[in-house]
Amino acid sequence: MTADRHTSHFTMQYITFTILLYMGLVRGRTEEDQATASGVNGEIRMGIRPSERCFYQLSSECPKVEHFNDCPCKRIRIISHSSSEENAVFCCNLNSRTFDTGLACANFPNNVSYIHIRNATLDTFNVSEVKWRRLKSLAITDGKINRIKGQFLMMTPTHCLNLSNNAMVDIENNSFTRLAQLTSLDISYNNITHLPALNTMNGREFWLDISGTNTLWCHDIYQYINKTGEKQIIFNRENETVCSASKTWHWFNTTEQVPLKQVRYLSLLQTECPKGENWQCQCSFGRLDIVEGKPPTLAVNVDCSGIQLSELPDRLPRNTIALNVSYNNITVLDELRINPCYQDIREFYADYNSISSINKLEGSKFLDNYALLSLRHNKIKSLPTYILTPNAYDKNYVGSKLVKLGGNELHCDCNTAKYLKVWLQTRILDSDEVLCENVKEKVVDLEPSKMCVYPGDWTDYIYYIIGAEVLMLMSLIAKVSYDYWVFKTAGYLPWPANKMPKLPCDWLCET
Ligand SMILES: *[C@@H]1O[C@H](CO)[C@@H](O)[C@H](O)[C@H]1NC(C)=O
Ligand SMILES: *[C@@H]1O[C@H](CO)[C@@H](O)[C@H](O)[C@H]1NC(C)=O
Ligand SMILES: *[C@@H]1O[C@H](CO)[C@@H](O)[C@H](O)[C@H]1NC(C)=O
Ligand SMILES: *[C@@H]1O[C@H](CO)[C@@H](O)[C@H](O)[C@H]1NC(C)=O
Ligand SMILES: *[C@@H]1O[C@H](CO)[C@@H](O)[C@H](O)[C@H]1NC(C)=O
Ligand SMILES: *[C@@H]1O[C@H](CO)[C@@H](O)[C@H](O)[C@H]1NC(C)=O
Ligand SMILES: *[C@@H]1O[C@H](CO)[C@@H](O)[C@H](O)[C@H]1NC(C)=O
Ligand SMILES: *[C@@H]1O[C@H](CO)[C@@H](O)[C@H](O)[C@H]1NC(C)=O
Ligand SMILES: *[C@@H]1O[C@H](CO)[C@@H](O)[C@H](O)[C@H]1NC(C)=O
Ligand SMILES: *[C@@H]1O[C@H](CO)[C@@H](O)[C@H](O)[C@H]1NC(C)=O
Ligand SMILES: *[C@@H]1O[C@H](CO)[C@@H](O)[C@H](O)[C@H]1NC(C)=O
Repeated sequence: MTADRHTSHFTMQYITFTILLYMGLVRGRTEEDQATASGVNGEIRMGIRPSERCFYQLSSECPKVEHFNDCPCKRIRIISHSSSEENAVFCCNLNSRTFDTGLACANFPNNVSYIHIRNATLDTFNVSEVKWRRLKSLAITDGKINRIKGQFLMMTPTHCLNLSNNAMVDIENNSFTRLAQLTSLDISYNNITHLPALNTMNGREFWLDISGTNTLWCHDIYQYINKTGEKQIIFNRENETVCSASKTWHWFNTTEQVPLKQVRYLSLLQTECPKGENWQCQCSFGRLDIVEGKPPTLAVNVDCSGIQLSELPDRLPRNTIALNVSYNNITVLDELRINPCYQDIREFYADYNSISSINKLEGSKFLDNYALLSLRHNKIKSLPTYILTPNAYDKNYVGSKLVKLGGNELHCDCNTAKYLKVWLQTRILDSDEVLCENVKEKVVDLEPSKMCVYPGDWTDYIYYIIGAEVLMLMSLIAKVSYDYWVFKTAGYLPWPANKMPKLPCDWLCET
């Protein structure tokens, strides 16, 4: 060790850095007031909450390296709020050849608690080495490090670890498991696919930044979201964070970039799923709804079939697009019309229930939006067809609205046979299974000629009366004419005319 070089180096830097430090501390002090006690205190800060921030220097602060043996690292003194002095080291542009010597010329790791290394080019960063053993904060950022190997030693007091922006592809699974005091881990802007195991036990706060590391599998993150009995991980820049999901994981088809929010929502789904004292619906993610210009949304399917519900659940998870309440005892569909939880529903299945009417659905948003309505085997007696006939202005129409009503027994009459039958055949998927309540026939088999006989019968009866009357009139005329002929030729009146009393007219004729 060249102690002389150190001393001169140090004196020069000391002056500069006491000034810088002083300025930093003035700023730092005001922040300490809001800072949590566990935070890094009294260092030169960049003005963000200390609990999230590692010791960090801008590239403009990099040591000047003009000669071959200028040190690429420098020491910075830090006075913490408990007035004890601590040391930090800041290095720039190290590579595998200059790494150890550069650190050594700043007398690292002696009495050093904080380090920031910028723009290091390394293939492997070995965290098992004893020199990292005493650090409270370790930042290696904005460089090129392929992988992290090894495991931090037991009792390492590091609470902040920043590995941001290194194009890193791999971190060994157990590298960080011994960092029992780690509260802030920044692995943003890297290319890792797997999240290393995190030690999140003993109820401390844990900040994790994985923004920009879009290659990370959502599955790995999901495991840390809402772990029971543990303090929740706080994701820095959550709104900007996406992860990768593939068809190998649950419901995702291809590799998709899924917003972290959606992954978080996944864990909430089971808690939002409708349940009661002795029933529980099943909720699952159906598909990823990708609408251009919007973040992808997971669509939710809710299955409440066969759990003896007598009414529709009053709450549904957000984004519920399909609800299955088949095989229950549901009688009314009011919720579909009035409950805002039902507003996204596109597919509604309520087969084998006791629904007697769909009249209440009239004018509901559901009828504007639905793609499939299945009410098979219910107690529907009449169909107000205008309700299920989309109006001409509806863009969603043209075959996109499907209805199933098979197994219902309608009240059938002439109208049913003449008009409803045709309507069923054009609008209802299973029209050949819609039955009649009063006739043992399917609606589609109804013959208008049979169903409509009653009005035909009545008209015929009038004709019979008219016919009979005409017949009677004609026979009367015939009889009168016959009597007249007999009277003229034979001179007597046949029965019954001869039994009739004489009328004044007769005397008139005889005279
Ligand atoms: C880690 O370093 C990056 C710079 O690459 C910085 O933007 C970020 O705030 C740092 N994170 C922490 C936790 O200090
Ligand atoms: C990073 O370090 C390398 C040497 O290891 C250097 O060539 C390069 O210019 C540095 N980049 C920045 C942005 O300082
Ligand atoms: C570390 O600091 C202690 C006191 O704070 C001091 O006695 C010791 O000499 C320092 N060690 C080095 C290597 O500077
Ligand atoms: C990391 O360092 C430890 C201790 O110095 C050593 O035993 C180990 O072999 C190193 N691992 C790698 C991958 O270099
Ligand atoms: C890392 O990912 C970025 C984009 O996220 C990409 O541009 C870059 O090529 C990747 N680097 C490596 C080494 O895979
Ligand atoms: C990483 O470690 C954790 C805990 O030790 C373990 O549950 C997980 O399966 C490991 N992952 C891999 C990829 O080995
Ligand atoms: C975690 O799960 C519980 C129920 O298990 C829920 O009440 C809570 O809202 C969830 N929190 C988060 C952040 O997901
Ligand atoms: C993230 O987005 C939500 C709404 O989408 C917003 O309320 C929140 O303030 C945002 N958070 C940040 C840190 O931008
Ligand atoms: C998923 O794959 C199915 C067929 O395998 C396809 O119909 C569907 O559109 C795909 N969904 C997404 C979101 O890519
Ligand atoms: C409907 O309720 C009745 C009694 O109220 C019960 O006997 C019947 O099994 C229920 N049906 C279904 C499908 O749950
Ligand atoms: C609805 O639930 C019933 C009973 O579990 C099932 O037979 C039917 O296939 C389900 N319908 C859909 C569309 O998932």
